[in-house]
Amino acid sequence: PSWASAPTRKAWPRSRRAAQQAMPRTRPPLFNARKTHANRGNMTSLTLARPDDWHLHLRDGAMLRAVLPWTARDFARAIIMPNLMPPVVTGAQAAAYRDRIRAALPEGATFEPLMTLYLTEDTDPDDVAAAHASGLVKAIKLYPAGATTNSASGVTDFDAVRPTLERMAEIGLPLCVHGEVTDPDIDIFDREAVFIDRVLDPIRRATPGLRVVMEHITTSDAVDYARAQDDTLGATITTHHLVINRNHILAGGIKPHYYCLPVAKRETHRLALRNAATSGEARFFLGTDSAPHTDANKLLPCGCAGCFTAPNTLPILAQVFEEDGALDRLEAFTSRNGPAFYRLPVNTDTVTLTKGTPDLPTHIDTDEGPVTVFNPGFALHWRVT
Ligand code: DOR
Ligand code: ZN
Repeated sequence: PSWASAPTRKAWPRSRRAAQQAMPRTRPPLFNARKTHANRGNMTSLTLARPDDWHLHLRDGAMLRAVLPWTARDFARAIIMPNLMPPVVTGAQAAAYRDRIRAALPEGATFEPLMTLYLTEDTDPDDVAAAHASGLVKAIKLYPAGATTNSASGVTDFDAVRPTLERMAEIGLPLCVHGEVTDPDIDIFDREAVFIDRVLDPIRRATPGLRVVMEHITTSDAVDYARAQDDTLGATITTHHLVINRNHILAGGIKPHYYCLPVAKRETHRLALRNAATSGEARFFLGTDSAPHTDANKLLPCGCAGCFTAPNTLPILAQVFEEDGALDRLEAFTSRNGPAFYRLPVNTDTVTLTKGTPDLPTHIDTDEGPVTVFNPGFALHWRVT
């Protein structure tokens, strides 16, 4: 064959990775020069504005004391989930919980809990407005009744919460949404997509201006919906949903430590989440949904949902973004897009990640028993220094 007919490199089928990288993506400008070389391979150190966690379960009592130091080590602030038993429903309860969190902080830690209220059909719009005006509460959490852990007091009749949602739209207070229908006739893998059509979109249309965070999105349907909306809509993505798909839970034996809600979906959805998280687009930001349960409560015939990712989230994310050639967009995801949505300043202090094996436990001890740390299934090679 002559040279003219020999296949050129260009004509060869491209790998999926190469094809993805060639896809036009909107690349926001780099925020500062120090990460200009972030995607050229040999990065050994990366300094980010200190991250925030826009969805976190800290629990209470002994569990709070055991897990809080891990978040306070790497994060400046976190949106604190109100699904305690009983739930954090009123401003007074949120203030008391914030004080318990502050009291559980290690000496010298500067972590700031951003409190939320658990929306019920009895929520008083005036109490919500007062808790927001005082600066105490940064969001209201909507759990459809029965959707997940401690959600029994959540909402069944969405008309009953309309006055609160309207007041929130007026005052600019965001609604954080656990986006799954609870209808037993809907397959659990479809519950997020059906929620968008049946509940989320109708609520947003009926309440113009309401600022909504689609939390812990798990599907390409949610990514597509989020991308099609204006800037009143944000979406958080967890660490674990960037790493696992449903095979990790179910293939080769059942793995309770990978069971969380919304449950991880098929691989195409995980790839859509990776594309969204690493895109740098302002609407996507980190909410770990780090949700500690004791091993005793995970490893039951009816085990609890939740992955405990607070200790290793930053090393995992650095590796995920590095693998996808997007280290220069990690800071947008962990530290910039969330504050922009919540209209809060970006943290002025920083964290530095360096190449090297992190010194992380496989589980932590609590007075209630051990809690297993999420295992990403690959050896980590970034550590927080
Ligand atoms: O996996 C989860 N765990 N998803 C939730 O929505 C709740 C959380 C928890 O509180 O354990
Ligand atoms: Zn959660």
